[in-house]
Amino acid sequence: MDSVRIFDTTLRDGEQSPGFSMNTEEKIRMARQLAALGVDIIEAGFPISSRGDLDAVQQVAREVRTVPIAALARAKQQDVNAAIEALEPAAAPRLHIFLATSDLHLRVKLNMTREQALEAISSMIRLGRNSVGEVEFSAEDAGRTDIGFLCQVCQVAVDAGATILNLPDTVGYAVPDEYGAMFEQVRAHLDDPQGITLSAHCHDDLGLAVANSLAAVRAGVRQIECTVNGIGERAGNAALEEIAVALAVRKESFGVTTNIKLEELFRSSRMLTEITGAVVAPNKAVVGANAFAHEAGIHQDGIIKNPLTYEIMSPESVGVPSRSFVLGKHSGRNALKVSLRTLGYEPSDEELAECYKRVTTLADEAKQVRPRDLVAIAHEVMRRRPAAVAAEASSAV
Ligand code: KIV
Ligand code: ZN
Repeated sequence: MDSVRIFDTTLRDGEQSPGFSMNTEEKIRMARQLAALGVDIIEAGFPISSRGDLDAVQQVAREVRTVPIAALARAKQQDVNAAIEALEPAAAPRLHIFLATSDLHLRVKLNMTREQALEAISSMIRLGRNSVGEVEFSAEDAGRTDIGFLCQVCQVAVDAGATILNLPDTVGYAVPDEYGAMFEQVRAHLDDPQGITLSAHCHDDLGLAVANSLAAVRAGVRQIECTVNGIGERAGNAALEEIAVALAVRKESFGVTTNIKLEELFRSSRMLTEITGAVVAPNKAVVGANAFAHEAGIHQDGIIKNPLTYEIMSPESVGVPSRSFVLGKHSGRNALKVSLRTLGYEPSDEELAECYKRVTTLADEAKQVRPRDLVAIAHEVMRRRPAAVAAEASSAV
């Protein structure tokens, strides 16, 4: 099966967004975890942005030897030189050069003609290739770039020595069929060149970053750029955990694999939260607190009979310690019985009915029944210690 490379940009595109900045030590800690997670490339920073970021990229490159390290540069000589300096200690360096290619960005932001853009792309890739063996080129705002010009840009980048062509939907404007079609057109124009990897990089302004990335895979893209917890500019980047799990759970449909160790996803997510202090939404796919929590009685009953009824992957498969049954006004007797058993109680039918009555009354008032509330209810209703504790006590006599 074909493999899709996961290019992690948590430490660059993620880190440059509000509330997510990291110091060098934090970047190194996170980079080690990304290596354990099995990402194929770590983009460690944007060296021209500050001396601190250049140093951080260097330190990450020194400490993490098993994964290629990328550094970002605009198509400007001082940027390319800073990135080359930052990558100097890397075991496997990748220089990532970008230039905006949409007419809007060229005119308003860069004050450049298309011809000047082509010249800058070609000369800066050639400059980079003199020092770094692997160069990626990104056509910023590719999603809003005239397709004819985008094809020209890609050809110039390949001719200058870039082997990875990244076509970002920088502003999260694309929809899946359009984004996939863009790659198909570029591939056709380049005549499916051997040794060139097409790459997707999506932002989530319309909530479509993951869907667009997956559409790109269907169109032949073999590198996806993404971030842990989907952090990144504005609404964020495509979420690494969602892409990895989607490609694994729907492997038959996509026909590709990744090197991601799914069981490291939860740990990676939690580490990022701990470092940045930014918690993920409870309903976030894969790593949110509710991703494997069940409150509705019908769902709890189904899960007890067979988890496949309401879970498309197990919590353990993505590193979540266990699923949870939330006791609230929607929960059912079966889940209550399982929760009481976990606490060591074996209620009779009458006792279970009484506990259920009290739990739902409390849930109506308090919204959720905490474990200690359940212990109190169980103790009052059954007026005895949990079965396991009682058995232990009697065997000790
Ligand atoms: O979103 C974007 O276009 C980027 C590029 C710099 C790769 O982050
Ligand atoms: Zn981006």
